[in-house]
Amino acid sequence: MITCETPVYLPFSPSPAGLLCDRVSVQSIVERVGTPAYLYSARAIREAYVDIDSAFADYPHAIHYALKANSTLALLRLLRGLGSRADANSGGEIAVALRAGFAPGDIVFTGVGKTVDELRDAIARGVGTINVESSGELDRVAVLAREAGRVARVAVRVNPDIDALSHPGISTGLKTNKFGVPLQEARQLYARHRGTDSLRFVGVHIHIGSQITSAEPLAQAARSLASLAIELRDDGVTLEHVDLGGGLGISYEGRRTMTPTEYAAAVVPELRRIGLPVVLEPGRAITGHAGALVSRVVDVKRYPDGRQFAVLDAGMTELMRPALYGSFHRIVPVEPRGGVGSHWDLVGPICESSDIFGRDRVLPPVEVGDVMAVLDTGAYGAVMASNYNRRLLAPEVLVDDGQWTVIRRRQTLDDILALES
Ligand code: LLP
Repeated sequence: MITCETPVYLPFSPSPAGLLCDRVSVQSIVERVGTPAYLYSARAIREAYVDIDSAFADYPHAIHYALKANSTLALLRLLRGLGSRADANSGGEIAVALRAGFAPGDIVFTGVGKTVDELRDAIARGVGTINVESSGELDRVAVLAREAGRVARVAVRVNPDIDALSHPGISTGLKTNKFGVPLQEARQLYARHRGTDSLRFVGVHIHIGSQITSAEPLAQAARSLASLAIELRDDGVTLEHVDLGGGLGISYEGRRTMTPTEYAAAVVPELRRIGLPVVLEPGRAITGHAGALVSRVVDVKRYPDGRQFAVLDAGMTELMRPALYGSFHRIVPVEPRGGVGSHWDLVGPICESSDIFGRDRVLPPVEVGDVMAVLDTGAYGAVMASNYNRRLLAPEVLVDDGQWTVIRRRQTLDDILALES
């Protein structure tokens, strides 16, 4: 049984007819689109969005879905239809958000290391807010906006030196991390640029990390944000919003984890001290549970010491998270065979020993040709894929109301070679 003690909707469920995505047979999709492939449930995305939106119903808020988690156009259009706005982390993501129909004013542009071209373009397009990461970047925005005869709407990202208690690779709020400016410096930056006509300070921004599963660091972040906004108000700076970033985690193991309601309960009392609308930038919490990577077993190996490997046709090229962070994803057979369970290592086909999706997983008998589903891969899955080993990007399928559609076709070798001489 695929369960999760957190009351969230999990779209992939076993049935006598095999694994279902909502009500649709996963095997029937695989027979048509092949493997590896990403499958997504529209219902799971809708429910996750609505859960966050409802959790903050009592406080003025705007959800800016973080495109970096998954920015396939069809999913962005679905989210825009629900009322979402966008958080873009690069010029590419801004362009994709616009292509999906988001208005420039509904986009926040975040991220360390924005190039001059990206900034110039964001200013020209009238992006809602540029979340600046350093004093140098703020100066560049001021000059570029003046050259363009525009007023850039900016928020300074602060680094509050808070431990998000998440994986070190995805924690961003410590003073040893490259992100934002120290809290003390933020106030000076606002003061230094008060008379700069080409800048309008509309907010303050914080993002302390991702896959955060305890409320306290997020409450602390909200406290820092509100305190800074109060100080700025005392200094005479009129802000329009505070931006709390993303970071709300999901349960990969099926254990209970912080819900959107608990998240809101932790941060809203802090935000009430300033009373300004809050911008939220959730990514994973919206698309994470909605997706699965389906992959076929291409080989089975048994070592004399009893270790068994199921070699899949997907690996770190399709899903990098296990190799990069040692992260855990549940893996289930799409059509489980009857028989006694045993321990398996599920590995990919890439020439690296880190190319492992799961070790010592108990599975029913496995044979070549079986299809496995790697769950909770809707966020930071397809978007982090690569062409290493000249492998082709997997197709993506959206299941909605009993129907399914290929929303991104499988890449071909010609697609890649078209770039080469
Ligand atoms: N806002 C900013 C400024 C961010 O840097 C991020 C994520 C988000 C929002 C969205 O965070 P979320 O709600 O998804 O936690 N590749 C990693 C995750 C990297 C997250 C980077 N920043 C992974 O696979 O776990």
